[in-house]
Amino acid sequence: MIKSQNITWQPTKVTKAARQNLLGHKPAVLWFTGLSGSGKSTIAMAVEKRLFERGLNSYVLDGDNIRFGLNQNLGFTATDRQENIRRIGEVAKLFVDAGTITLTAFISPYRADRDQVRALLAADEFIEVFVDTPLAVCEQRDVKQLYAKARRGEIKGFTGVDAPYEAPLKPELTIDTSQQSLAQSVDQIIDYLQAKQYIT
Ligand code: PPS
Repeated sequence: MIKSQNITWQPTKVTKAARQNLLGHKPAVLWFTGLSGSGKSTIAMAVEKRLFERGLNSYVLDGDNIRFGLNQNLGFTATDRQENIRRIGEVAKLFVDAGTITLTAFISPYRADRDQVRALLAADEFIEVFVDTPLAVCEQRDVKQLYAKARRGEIKGFTGVDAPYEAPLKPELTIDTSQQSLAQSVDQIIDYLQAKQYIT
C-alpha cells in the first residue's frame, strides 16, 4: 500500500533497450530459493564471478548480507519474511532497470511472496532457480550450526525444522547440489542464459 500522497511516477530518459544495447546483454533476476545451507549463495556468487569475468554486469543480493543493512529491522516471522522478500523484489527490479544481471539468494520460503516478485517484473525478467538440496543434506552440512541450534530449540521458527518451506511449482531451473558439483551448477545456469539469449 502506498502511504505517500501527491507522488507522480517519473519516467527516465534512458530506455531499457538503450541500456541493453550499451551493456551487450539482457538483464534479469536469477531468483535462487531453497533451504538454509542448500547452496544458494555459493552458486549465486560463483555465477556472478563467471559473468563478471566475461565482462558482464552482474550483482548478488544475499540474504545474510541484506539483513546487516537494508533489512536489519526484520526478523524471521512470516510477516517479516514477506516484507524481506517484498523489499528485495523492489530492489531487484531497480537493478534490472539499471541493466544488471541480478542474482538473489534468499530462502524466500513462501510461494506467494516469490510469485509477487515474479509479477513485478516482465515475464522474461524473472528466472526462478530452485536449489532443491534435500533437508537431510543441508542439515548434515550445517555450515553455520543453525540446524543444531534449531533442533535444540535455541532458534524458533527455523525453515525446514519448525517453519515451512514451500517448494516452487514451476521453477525455470532446478539444482540439487547433492547430485552435482558447483562447476556443473554454474554451467547449468550459464547454459540457460545463453540458450535464452540473455548473454551471448
Ligand atoms: S527469508 O526466509 O528469505 O526471509 O530468509 P533470508 O533473508 O534468506 O535469511 C536466511 C538466513 O538467515 C539465517 N537464519 C535463518 N534462516 C531460516 N530460519 C531462521 N529462523 C533463521 N534465523 C537465522 C540463516 O543463516 C539463513 O542463511 P542461509 O544462507 O539461507 O543459510
